[in-house]
Amino acid sequence: MTDPTTLAAWDHRHLWHPFTQMTDWLVDDPLIIAEAEGSMLVDVDGRRYLDGVSSLWCNLHGHRHPALDAALAAQAGRVAHTTLLGLASPPSIELARALVGVVPAGLTRVFYSDAGATAVEVALRIALQYQQLRGATDRTRFASLVEGYHGDTLGAVGVGYSETFHRFVARAVAPAVRLTPPHVFRWLRGMDAEGALAAALADAERTLAEHGPGLAAVIVEPLVQGAAGMWVHPPAYLGALRELARRQGALFIADEVATGFGRTGRMFACEHAGITPDLMCLGKGISGGYLPLAATLATEEVFEAFLAPYEEFRAFFHGHTYTGNALACAVGLASLRLFDDEQTLARLGPKIARLHERLATDVAYLPHVGEVRQQGIMVGIELVQERPTRAPYPPAARIGQRVVRAARARGVVLRPLGNTIVLMPPLAIRPAELDELVDVTRDAIVEATGA
Ligand SMILES: Cc1ncc(COP(=O)(O)O)c(C=O)c1O
Repeated sequence: MTDPTTLAAWDHRHLWHPFTQMTDWLVDDPLIIAEAEGSMLVDVDGRRYLDGVSSLWCNLHGHRHPALDAALAAQAGRVAHTTLLGLASPPSIELARALVGVVPAGLTRVFYSDAGATAVEVALRIALQYQQLRGATDRTRFASLVEGYHGDTLGAVGVGYSETFHRFVARAVAPAVRLTPPHVFRWLRGMDAEGALAAALADAERTLAEHGPGLAAVIVEPLVQGAAGMWVHPPAYLGALRELARRQGALFIADEVATGFGRTGRMFACEHAGITPDLMCLGKGISGGYLPLAATLATEEVFEAFLAPYEEFRAFFHGHTYTGNALACAVGLASLRLFDDEQTLARLGPKIARLHERLATDVAYLPHVGEVRQQGIMVGIELVQERPTRAPYPPAARIGQRVVRAARARGVVLRPLGNTIVLMPPLAIRPAELDELVDVTRDAIVEATGA
């Protein structure tokens, strides 16, 4: 391996990091991760760090899991990649069948791509074409939640506008119809949870009725709006949106890129509301956090709308070079098997409860913690300058980054969302590591906020 000092210099000279103000990056030594094991990352100097955000919300069973490594090596010994355009491959077939076995009943078809954003693009395009194919030619718009996030490709940006992330492209994309979710802390201030739910449902009903005939689909992050700062909404809201979409003749798209594969405490967030969407987007954890892979699942009814003689050109003309990559699918299949073999979800329950308890006793009381939001193993800790008024820290205070820096000095890797500190460790995190995660988060908040 190239020596650490040279690597750092080359990084500064040649890389452009995602979601990163490079002015800040270039004055700092980069943390360069060379190895990992379980929930621990190891840098080029041999220092160890707890992976507190599971490598951006995707690692499930830990790094270098023997079963996943073996599946990867075995597939590499056969073939790394062949196309799904005109050909099929054993791993993509087997994973599709396995996925259909675990997603909400009624989703029967799997269309692969390579990132959460592309899974969303696929869903949006399927919805548009589906509506056109059935003669609903006016249905060309989408509805989504305020501060929803669905990825960074232009279609996904249109349905997921966030002021900070997307302002430079906002005018170049088709804006979605916005629904206000029942988020009490910021959007429906002064209301209790019940009042906020009633207000959000009334807003959804009114807005969807107004725009219904023009809607191709309603898209939501079910239960947790991750990138918004881990905003949690009740299952009743999700269930109601699903019904409202159906009533308006719009498809319902569940973007489970972040919430899928156990993060909410169940395999998929939709299960909490007992719903089956028309389309479901999967990414991140689908390969256990090993390789870029994503999938869009559809019901048979949606799929059948595309069937016709070739010359009618009703086919779904969409795809990517690495669609259904064999290495990624082989690891994805092994990852799904681990859920059974290691009883991942059953063992996760007590960890979620422990996390809840520890956050309540050790973090929630801190003077600059405005709110602690948790759903399953997904946590957002919103920091505020003033608790009574909920006044946010100004961006120049870089409070999230300061907490992250303080955590890193204590051996934990975190990544903030603005002023919200995110905790989302691998599902397989050990109880002692979970305690360490909370201890370090508390200490880092205390140091960064000076209180
Ligand atoms: C709900 C949701 N959808 C889509 C995406 C985009 O996924 P990717 O970064 O793999 O494109 C994300 C990423 O955080 C997400 O949270």
